[in-house]
Amino acid sequence: MVTILGIESSCDDTSAAVIRDGVILSNVIAGQAVHERYGGVVPELASRAHQQNIIPVVHDALKQAGVSREELSAVAFTRGPGLLGSLLVGTSFAKGLSSALDIPMIEVNHLQAHVLAHFIKEDEGDTSQPSFPFLCLLVSGGNSQIILVKSYSVMEIIGQTIDDAAGEAFDKCAKVMGLGYPGGPVVDRLAKLGDPERFTFSKPRIEGYDYSFSGLKTSFLYFLRDELKEDADFIEKNRNDLCASLQKTIVDILMNKLYHATKDLRIKEVAVAGGVSANSGLRSAFEDYSRRYGWKIHIPKFAYTTDNAAMVAITGYHKYLDKQFCGPEVVPYARVSI
Ligand code: KG4
Repeated sequence: MVTILGIESSCDDTSAAVIRDGVILSNVIAGQAVHERYGGVVPELASRAHQQNIIPVVHDALKQAGVSREELSAVAFTRGPGLLGSLLVGTSFAKGLSSALDIPMIEVNHLQAHVLAHFIKEDEGDTSQPSFPFLCLLVSGGNSQIILVKSYSVMEIIGQTIDDAAGEAFDKCAKVMGLGYPGGPVVDRLAKLGDPERFTFSKPRIEGYDYSFSGLKTSFLYFLRDELKEDADFIEKNRNDLCASLQKTIVDILMNKLYHATKDLRIKEVAVAGGVSANSGLRSAFEDYSRRYGWKIHIPKFAYTTDNAAMVAITGYHKYLDKQFCGPEVVPYARVSI
């Protein structure tokens, strides 16, 4: 029996989770409302909030799982990428716990963890996991990548954004419309009430499987600037249609490259991960492509779309089986690829 405690503290969510033999026992997440009034995550406030949250969050995760500290086989933690001060809290906590309990420590790459979230079992009979190789569209506030996943540890980025991430496109355009931060979920909610065909925004023309979203952001901004000259209430009057059209444009851009990758590589097993995978338009597009092109799709539960420790624990579990441990000298890294 292998029982892993996972710890995630890369950005503004403090999370701890327990996984036993691949099956989820608990996943506790404490968000940080403190950033809302600043319109973005303030790194110094994030690390302070992690320090306050980490002990109660780990305590709750163990309690909900019904697991004692002595039953833990190892502690897995996010080493990076992320905010250095935030990562330091989780890393230091993992070091302390591993030393106190005399159990191994496992470092986890946050991006790899997003992909491996698809292997979390809800119960022992859960067989919904993807089979290798599969393609994973990883879309979050910081990343937009198409990843060819060959095994639990071998992943190749075949396409990625050359400028903004999809989540940033949602958030920045939402900000221009005065929708608050993070704007992605708000755009999603309002898009359901609007007409996605009402406005068209420019789509990038880029070779290969790479993405670009900065042109869309600029085109959206200029479009609004021109319309506002004619009618100062333009945004207010057209908010739902603007959100629906923006969301459709972003989803179309994401799906188009992914579709070409599946065709070229002849892979029909396709997953989506990261914060933007919560988007209802993107989820429906996956279902639509599954019907049209026979894709076998893997869409994460909402709890696993944003930052969570369950994905860290499942990654730790597979590294544990491979005996990939790290020592106390390990330090967090702010930037790293998959
Ligand atoms: O993976 P994640 O939680 O962390 C970061 O990488 O920061 O992703 C956060 C991103 C934000 O840009 C947020 O606006 C976006 O995911 N997001 C959404 C939705 N839910 C979260 N974007 C569009 N529709 C959603 N429903």
